[in-house]
Amino acid sequence: MKFFSVTAIALALASSASAAFSSCGAATDSFQLSGISYAPNPPKVNQNVCVTVNGSLSKPVIQGSSIRVTGHVWGLKVYDQTSDLCAALAGSATPCPIATTVTSVTHCITVPSEVPAGVSITLKATATNGSGERLFCISGPLTFTN
Ligand SMILES: *[C@@H]1O[C@H](CO)[C@@H](O)[C@H](O)[C@H]1NC(C)=O
Ligand SMILES: *[C@@H]1O[C@H](CO)[C@@H](O)[C@H](O)[C@H]1NC(C)=O
Repeated sequence: MKFFSVTAIALALASSASAAFSSCGAATDSFQLSGISYAPNPPKVNQNVCVTVNGSLSKPVIQGSSIRVTGHVWGLKVYDQTSDLCAALAGSATPCPIATTVTSVTHCITVPSEVPAGVSITLKATATNGSGERLFCISGPLTFTN
């Protein structure tokens, strides 16, 4: 769940699901999560999923920020990828630098084909700013379909 990675797509908010994700960060992180949703629900392997993250930023998100997304199934790591956060958001409605007035970021990515379908995957996304300080940590379960 990159904050996250890729092209802006018209988002059918009506069909988006409020996800069971929660913050695994700290009160000192510069991004404080208030809500997260994704569409379509359930997301499909090899197809686009758009993730909307709402919250408040105490510092702008600038070039050099990165995001690491990991996925675990029954404790085993099935996915681990680190990307350049600003490169991922370059084509979105909220490119870097992301001002502190921004409260909602939507990012669409193609679900990688190696993601297993039909099992609950514990996803965790951790973003860090240009100097390696944490922006946020979000985690939660998600089940993809074929
Ligand atoms: C995120 O913010 C948008 C715009 O304010 C709102 O429509 C949406 O319901 C919010 N989603 C969540 C999960 O908080
Ligand atoms: C990264 O975050 C730390 C701690 O919040 C802050 O001191 C530093 O200025 C930030 N760096 C950038 C480049 O935003």
